[in-house]
Amino acid sequence: MTRSAPIPPGSTIGILGSGQLGRMTALAAAALGYRCHIFSPDEASPAGQVAAAETVADYTDHDALASFAAAVDVVTFEFENIPHESVQLLERLRPVRPGWQALQVSQDRLVEKDFLRSLEVRTADYRAVAGPEELAAAAADLGGEGVLKTTRFGYDGKGQVRIRPGTDLNDAWREMGGRVGILEAFVDFEREISVIVARSADGSEAAYVPVENRHKDHILHMTLAPADIAPETAAEADAIARKIARSLDIVGLLAVEMFVTKDGGVLVNELAPRPHNSGHWTMDACVTGQFEQFVRAVCGLPLGSPERLCDATMTNLLDRDVDRWPEILSEPNAKLHLYGKAEVRPGRKMGHVNRLDVSAKKD
Ligand SMILES: Nc1ncnc2c1ncn2[C@@H]1O[C@H](COP(=O)(O)OP(=O)(O)O)[C@@H](O)[C@H]1O
Ligand SMILES: [Mg+2]
Repeated sequence: MTRSAPIPPGSTIGILGSGQLGRMTALAAAALGYRCHIFSPDEASPAGQVAAAETVADYTDHDALASFAAAVDVVTFEFENIPHESVQLLERLRPVRPGWQALQVSQDRLVEKDFLRSLEVRTADYRAVAGPEELAAAAADLGGEGVLKTTRFGYDGKGQVRIRPGTDLNDAWREMGGRVGILEAFVDFEREISVIVARSADGSEAAYVPVENRHKDHILHMTLAPADIAPETAAEADAIARKIARSLDIVGLLAVEMFVTKDGGVLVNELAPRPHNSGHWTMDACVTGQFEQFVRAVCGLPLGSPERLCDATMTNLLDRDVDRWPEILSEPNAKLHLYGKAEVRPGRKMGHVNRLDVSAKKD
């Protein structure tokens, strides 16, 4: 099969990762007549519950990966921390979309920032730091303020420590918990935004409007669609996201998190080569939601319209917030999405609600 031949409905999409992103992808895939086969180390997963097939095995289990590849028509990810050897093995057997380069860049914050700089995309100033002594030098270099992050495996603010003048840098290094770190200059941003762009193997693209993301305790709390930003800022954000997607030869989705500074500048914070929490609003408020778009891109189908039908806000339901489901269901313009997670843990994403502003139709 050539790289760009469509993978038709009825085929099986293999997904590495089994969280809510995989679950919502599997649901969107089913609506288009596909089967999904989930691969992850976790039992009773959100995605496994709604998929046609599931393999529970480690991401380094080569026998299990080979059997998985034999059972699917195309492979994608809802999670980017897959070891290189596993991706290579899968690539020998089936089309893997997006490919290794997108994963490699987004697995490591330092590689990611260096890559962005190579594209002349602006980011916060940063320094690689291999230990507390280097941290002291880097902090001095960046004016005493910054955010120390582990280069790998951080999410929802985990593996991050705020550095201020007077912070004990040995403690900060220990708290960060990684072997290698990156110290980023602290960005006194006006707001955080993101753009999600879909890209097909034939190079066609479709981007959603930039949205604003508000965090609480480093975890995404709300997305406001669209972001209340100047048209020039929105155009710049859109252009940056497309440029990165092309440079990474993305086949699938790319989410680009950005900071808007007080002078209207746009700095890229991080990349995710997959569906993203800040795109959940599109499920109910756009012609084509991000999960359907992901399936279309990965299977080589025409991309759908990303057009916004109405303004919307998305609110994450973290841990006990999920108990509010009855009230949410009685709101007239609220759409509830729950992820089927049995265990409530502090800060765990249990679901989200999209509130549609049906009176604010697109201009
Ligand atoms: N350099 C920075 N300056 C200011 N705030 C930051 C910086 N880096 C991260 N943050 C804040 O922390 C949040 C989480 O950081 P991020 O790098 O996106 O990691 P992750 O989402 O993987 O936990 C960001 O959305 C932002 O609110
Ligand atoms: Mg982030």
